[in-house]
Amino acid sequence: MAEKKLETRLVSAGRRQKFTLNAINPVIQRASSIIFNSVADLRHAMKNRANGELFYGRRGTLTHFAFQEAMTELEGGAGCALYPSGTAAITHSILAFVATGDHILVTGSAYEPTQEFCQHVLKKLAIATDYFDPQIGTEIATLIQPNTKVVFLESPGSLTMEVQDIPAIVHAIRQVNPDIVIMIDNTWAAGVLFKALDFGIDISIQSATKYIIGHSDGMLGTAVANQRCWEKLREGSYLMGQIADPDTVYAASRGLHTLALRLKQHEENSIKIAEWLSKRPEVSAVYHPALPSCPGHEYFKRDFTGACGLFSFLLNTHLTAEQLAHYLDNFKHFKMAFSWGGYESLILGIQSESLVALRRFDFPPKTGTLIRVHIGLEHPQDLIDDLDAGFARIAR
Ligand SMILES: Cc1ncc(COP(=O)(O)O)c(C=O)c1O
Repeated sequence: MAEKKLETRLVSAGRRQKFTLNAINPVIQRASSIIFNSVADLRHAMKNRANGELFYGRRGTLTHFAFQEAMTELEGGAGCALYPSGTAAITHSILAFVATGDHILVTGSAYEPTQEFCQHVLKKLAIATDYFDPQIGTEIATLIQPNTKVVFLESPGSLTMEVQDIPAIVHAIRQVNPDIVIMIDNTWAAGVLFKALDFGIDISIQSATKYIIGHSDGMLGTAVANQRCWEKLREGSYLMGQIADPDTVYAASRGLHTLALRLKQHEENSIKIAEWLSKRPEVSAVYHPALPSCPGHEYFKRDFTGACGLFSFLLNTHLTAEQLAHYLDNFKHFKMAFSWGGYESLILGIQSESLVALRRFDFPPKTGTLIRVHIGLEHPQDLIDDLDAGFARIAR
């Protein structure tokens, strides 16, 4: 039989009768204690507690198991660990594979809290971090040390959107040391537009806070691991007490079923707006992976099956703090907020001074203010009109 298409898999994933009890959706099972009817039942549960047998709330309930099964199927792994936020998914995935004296490599375009975790927590544990240029490709081999245990990727990068040559990077790492655990923050692709594990990556991490929940009303992290890393990831995270609450996990399960449709609309709207922006005199570059002006666009075309709604553009002037506030304070549809991946449009302004502190590499040019937008599900013409009015506010 032909393999099911993504849209079909997203509709059916995690909906086995065991989880739904014959409703359409899985049950919300809120539990700490699980009652055993006999010592034999308790022993059976204890033996199988890591394999989807109800045991104790911190090991998950039917609600968790349904969503974990769905994520494992969608991302093609051996299992999915859940966390109370995307940041917890990142930090505990790394922690599960490092010890004092180790070294890790992290892309310089990684989400700021990922970098801060390395600077503060890993440093305290005497685990060294080196950052690499996201466009490094096979040159990554030169940075690997005998004690390098983890390479952490993020593609496209946070804020500056560089798409990485993942096959080249993975191949180069494996040539030097096949035991290194390669992880990726795969949030931009919602785990489905870039199939990380198919590219030889060991662990695909997501902030499910973004597109999976999809309505900006919950926090959740996921990490899907391949066979060789699953047990270590699962037990490492369990030992650190990581679990998410069942109501949020239910919201994530529900989000999965409309994910394909939402992503298609985010993609269509964001490309339309990115193309409009690229023709504006106020804009010097648009960093949308689907446009040739984005670093690594060729890898996006080769490795991804679609885009989402998040991208950045560089203004051709460096706005003063007052100009930037006047620009950002007066949008009608674009709300100013952190995070992204909900149904609504968002905007943030990033000055090159703050990027310099965060970035390890000389991109983008410091000549202009960077604007990051998340394009939501509003009609794109309303968003274009809003952006057009924004440019009028910064016209000299
Ligand atoms: C790329 C990326 N990864 C991870 C996170 C962290 O996710 P959370 O906010 O769920 O901790 C974010 C949040 O903005 C993000 O943008």
